[in-house]
Amino acid sequence: MFPFSHLPRIPLTHLPTPIEPLSGLSKHLGGPSILVKRDDLTSLAMGGNKTRKLEFLLADAVEQGADTVITSGGSQSNHCRLTAAAATRLGLKCELVFGGEQPVDMPNGNLFLDQLFGATVHWSEPELRNETVKKVAISLRTRGRTPYVIPIGGSNGIGAVGYVAAMYEFQEQLASMGQKVDHIIFATSSGGTHVGLQLGARLTGFQGQILGLSIDQTKTGKFPPKLADVANETAERLQVNEQFEPDDFTMNTDYLGSGYGVVGDLERETITLAARCDGLLVGPVYTGRALGGLIDLIRRGTFHQDETVLFWHTGGIPALFAYVNEVSA
Ligand SMILES: Cc1ncc(COP(=O)(O)O)c(C=O)c1O
Repeated sequence: MFPFSHLPRIPLTHLPTPIEPLSGLSKHLGGPSILVKRDDLTSLAMGGNKTRKLEFLLADAVEQGADTVITSGGSQSNHCRLTAAAATRLGLKCELVFGGEQPVDMPNGNLFLDQLFGATVHWSEPELRNETVKKVAISLRTRGRTPYVIPIGGSNGIGAVGYVAAMYEFQEQLASMGQKVDHIIFATSSGGTHVGLQLGARLTGFQGQILGLSIDQTKTGKFPPKLADVANETAERLQVNEQFEPDDFTMNTDYLGSGYGVVGDLERETITLAARCDGLLVGPVYTGRALGGLIDLIRRGTFHQDETVLFWHTGGIPALFAYVNEVSA
């Protein structure tokens, strides 16, 4: 059991999410054994990893007396969709700041759902997104509202607690199944999932490898120090004596393709293969790329035949409907 029950948390989904075998894919690739942890099945608004973070972030928002949450991302952000849905459920207003141009076509995928959940949408130059978030917050305050800003991807020391809790949940499931997992593989981008799993692994004594497959981050630059900073902030919040350095996080950056949100052969083949081998949906931006990386690593013989690899599915399915042309190409 997650031993930090003193932290404010608002349940937004049914847990635990299932662990299932990907027998079809495993057979297709000729081994090793592949499992999937179905965080695409977190029950709120078509699922995904952000719901676990939002349970802690929105509890903090409510505790601080907020009446509005503001967050930001790309126009097909799963994080924004789930924030909009969760805010609605809790009676909070939601303002979303998207980097980029407002699409001229009818909104689809996540953007369609954001509007369905009643979020107010703002558009900004990508590099001015944080500035726009600040301006929206100031404007709300001058109108007597109390905004709470959630950072991109919900990746701070509050949100990452959701994935520390997920690691406790996972370890309990493995124990009850009598199952050993040697490698956990997942999509990493703003880092909160990676931080939570890594800290959770330390706290629960998970012995396997935790490997983030990068969607858009490189190994040089600000990202590895950010992971360490958020991990240290999270450890502080949990009041556990753990210290992290950038090197404590294992990340693969070989599958960045032509950039964030650009579907290539890797994602196309993976989305189709997962659908046809196991009836499993993966998204075009995050999970299609990460599972594609995992498949490539398996084909290169990275894992032993007798090992068990677990793909931690972080969701992103609604974006498929905004990428019909690219996926079908
Ligand atoms: C479907 C999906 N998977 C993975 C990620 C990456 O998670 P994190 O931002 O915690 O690194 C995201 C982030 O938006 C996502 O939407």
